Amino acid sequence: MRFFIDTADTTEIAELAAAGLVDGVTTNPSLIAKTGRPIKDVIKEICGMIDGPVSAEVTASRLDGMIAEGERLAGIAKNVAVKVPSTFDGFRACRALSAQGMAVNVTLCFSANQALLAAKAGARFISPFVGRLDDLGLDGMEVIREIRMIYDNDNSFKTEILASSIRTPLHVKQAAIAGADIATVPPAVLRNLAQHPLTEKGLASFLADWDKTGQAIL
Ligand code: E4P
Repeated sequence: MRFFIDTADTTEIAELAAAGLVDGVTTNPSLIAKTGRPIKDVIKEICGMIDGPVSAEVTASRLDGMIAEGERLAGIAKNVAVKVPSTFDGFRACRALSAQGMAVNVTLCFSANQALLAAKAGARFISPFVGRLDDLGLDGMEVIREIRMIYDNDNSFKTEILASSIRTPLHVKQAAIAGADIATVPPAVLRNLAQHPLTEKGLASFLADWDKTGQAIL
């Protein structure tokens, strides 16, 4: 499973990219708003830092506006993936933009049927929002499992499952087990994947014993 990071913070992206942990980046209007910078500048900067896809989301809600904004966003850099919402017009925009050769990420997906429509519209990515379903007491990971089965049942579907709204290390593990192709993970959660209290405890005791030997490897 590949890792995208879910942030528009270029400092975080640079640090995690240097650690070899970033296969792509996802942004959304809320994440861009947090930077306080123009979307074009932020997306251009991120695209220059990362070889993989960088998702930038349209904000129009009608078909024509989505297509025009998608074309503008895709013009920022070759590795932009245009994000459109899982609405009727969003699926139509996905079809139109995909037909022009653009990578389209269909976002705000909360059901397997929406993912089915996205695949039929030629989406490069489908983004099921696991955490937001869990927030409602539903099982977000079940949607990932359903989409995996549906996509595996039809060889003509080329859409990749991009597990989104990931909130915890448990979500990351469950998404990998459920067969997601990619998880887009907030930087703090990505760092937490390395943490285990028994690793910390074991390391402290190994180093305490090592100190007693008076040895040095170098
Ligand atoms: C994905 O592309 C979205 O930006 C993101 O995963 C949303 O996560 P949230 O539900 O934690 O805001």
